[in-house]
Amino acid sequence: MLGPKHDLRERPKVSEGGGVLMNRPCAVIILAAGEGTRMRSATPKVLHAIAGRSLLGHVIEAAATLEPEHLVVVVGHGREQVSEHIAEIAPWALIVVQAEQHGTGHAVRVALEDLDARGAIFSDAPLVVLTGDTPLLSGGTLVQLVVAHGQANAAATVLTTRVADPFGYGRVIRDAAGGVQRIVEQKDASPDELAVAEINSGMYAFDLGKLRGALDRLSADNAQGEQYLPDVIGFLRSDSDAVAASMCLDSSEIMGVNDRVQLAAAAAIMRDRINTQWMRDGVAIADPATTWLDVDVDIEPDVTILPNTTLRGPTSIASGAQIGPGTTLVSCEVAENATVIHTWAELAVIGAGSHVGPFTYLRPGTVLGADTKAGSFVEIKNSTLGDSSKVPHLSYVGDAQIGTGSNIGAATVFVNYDGVEKHRTVIGDYVRVGSDTMLVAPVTIGDGAYTAAGSVITEDVPPGAIGVGRARQRNILDWVLRRRPGTESARAASQATKPVSRAQEDK
Ligand code: UD1
Ligand code: CA
Repeated sequence: MLGPKHDLRERPKVSEGGGVLMNRPCAVIILAAGEGTRMRSATPKVLHAIAGRSLLGHVIEAAATLEPEHLVVVVGHGREQVSEHIAEIAPWALIVVQAEQHGTGHAVRVALEDLDARGAIFSDAPLVVLTGDTPLLSGGTLVQLVVAHGQANAAATVLTTRVADPFGYGRVIRDAAGGVQRIVEQKDASPDELAVAEINSGMYAFDLGKLRGALDRLSADNAQGEQYLPDVIGFLRSDSDAVAASMCLDSSEIMGVNDRVQLAAAAAIMRDRINTQWMRDGVAIADPATTWLDVDVDIEPDVTILPNTTLRGPTSIASGAQIGPGTTLVSCEVAENATVIHTWAELAVIGAGSHVGPFTYLRPGTVLGADTKAGSFVEIKNSTLGDSSKVPHLSYVGDAQIGTGSNIGAATVFVNYDGVEKHRTVIGDYVRVGSDTMLVAPVTIGDGAYTAAGSVITEDVPPGAIGVGRARQRNILDWVLRRRPGTESARAASQATKPVSRAQEDK
């Protein structure tokens, strides 16, 4: 269900033996110039993301399966943002600006004119047109489209599907013999045509020469005053060119995202696909409905993922690890047999067999060695913990290097910030930092050294020494009896300090 993964930053290479297709497309054009008004967002529609990848990124991923000679994205609304995004995720893609949006047919014409002006060379292989807002489209479906197009030796092949509610889509009108005749838009359709359940996906394969001819004949004489790309289908058919359809059985692949309700629906379908694939690959997912894994996540077999867990970015989890419940990991690396419970971690490395959580916050630059512990209400940032070292409770560790086998007592704070600059703390091997120690950086605690509980450590502690940085305790006897007479405390105190009777003493 999930196609092979491509590194989108690299231009897809033609596979051995000429690629997945005999006739790899001369170009794939992705239409993404529309405004996406219904998202009600400052972000252009195609940049909204599901599973850690933009809608457009998902379409580019599917398109890459076809190994096209050119991949072209038509941008318009929010073109700076969209172009910047494309340069980041797929720098090999060509960008064409459609400054004014006069419809899908106009968009394709602008793209071809632009490419011609740039001297782009096209083979006589088919040209594929896609839309930028269909993130659930698979590469396999596109392969089927191009194969069907080749087999029918068609001038145009439209990708169609059947849906329960075709409202809003262009309807595929077939003749008595079942051949595709034309496509009619919702707003231009007769009642009979509106009853048709087979819809136009907005995705097609074309013979480039035939397409060019048909695009020249487009008019905007319709309900929306736009040049409709699907009108090309009717023109070609009336020229008695072969027009074919490739029907996609999984209509979810065709689903366009136009508003935030559809965005959430698409995200849920994508989540289920991703989780199903990982479960088939040997990952135990206790509650797939509340487990959200980005497309770039990598998980080995025999990992267990407990409910309400989100793994984002290029997070990797090694075999035997247990993640969750209630955990979010962003671009983290978790080694074998680690457990990570109720944790939020970002750009952190968690060593083999380590225990993290519950209620732990690991910030960027945290590197935990093997068999370490980061316990409850512990925050760690930009710090390295050597093998078998532990920060079990209620501590802040920032800008520190901690050696092997050291223990950081409860409520220790690495005081790394003097209000202006950050400073580092170095802790050696087998150190015992007493509870409630303030380690005022820059400071070094030597191998095998201790600090006394409650110390404020401002100077280095040599190896094997104990650093004591606190006032000595003094007890002021009977203070409560004198200063808080009549209180429960005073009563309890006088009971406890009553002279012991002779009878009891004899016992
Ligand atoms: C289009 C099809 C419809 C099909 C549906 C499938 C047309 C006229 N209709 O309708 O038959 O069922 O897709 O989802 O093509 N775009 C541009 N430039 C423009 C206009 C649109 O780049 O001038 C882009 C949009 O950003 C979008 C895509 O083309 O990605 C489709 O445009 P949209 O207006 O959403 O068409 P639909 O009404 O959905
Ligand atoms: Ca649309």
